[in-house]
Amino acid sequence: MKKVAFLVATALLAPSAFAHQAGDILVRGGAMTVAPTTDADETFDVDSNTQLGLTFSYMVTDNWGVELLAATPFSHDVSLKGAGEVASVKHLPPTLMAQYYFGNAQSKVRPYVGAGVNYTFFFDEEGLGDLNGADVKADDSWGLAAQAGVDMDVTDNLFINGSVWFMDIDTDVSVGGSQVDTANIDPAGLMVGLGYRF
Ligand code: NI
Repeated sequence: MKKVAFLVATALLAPSAFAHQAGDILVRGGAMTVAPTTDADETFDVDSNTQLGLTFSYMVTDNWGVELLAATPFSHDVSLKGAGEVASVKHLPPTLMAQYYFGNAQSKVRPYVGAGVNYTFFFDEEGLGDLNGADVKADDSWGLAAQAGVDMDVTDNLFINGSVWFMDIDTDVSVGGSQVDTANIDPAGLMVGLGYRF
């Protein structure tokens, strides 16, 4: 009887390692909005778009992880000052992050920050309005990226996630082979969704 009581007490007092820890794979999915932060004095204006965002993290230690961001293609309308909409573009912004998670393997809430690189490739560029039918091209872009987020455990494996992102995305836009200007899209991203820990 004493032994049973001891086992029960041990089970109750043992730290339950439910939260992120070394070796875990975290998959997060949710709505991701990309809101360009183009300045008012710039040539181009680019509108926001929301797509399905997916991230895959691997916990290297209980506190350090690496994350890859993937998403369904974002689609933006591009406006030229005084001429209205002149193009639509699609892009994919795969991003690789090194992440630091605060707390420890017992924490049910894990805030984190990350920094890394973003590669954005543009496709399906299409001239609209005054540029209807024109050969519009947006160059691919390499840039730095940063993020902050939080994971909150719901069950042993399921958690809620929210994160904000910043990506330095600058693309040279050309029409008919001649460069018009560089579009500094530099979007802020917001992702809200669910995660699963394997
Ligand atoms: Ni920039």
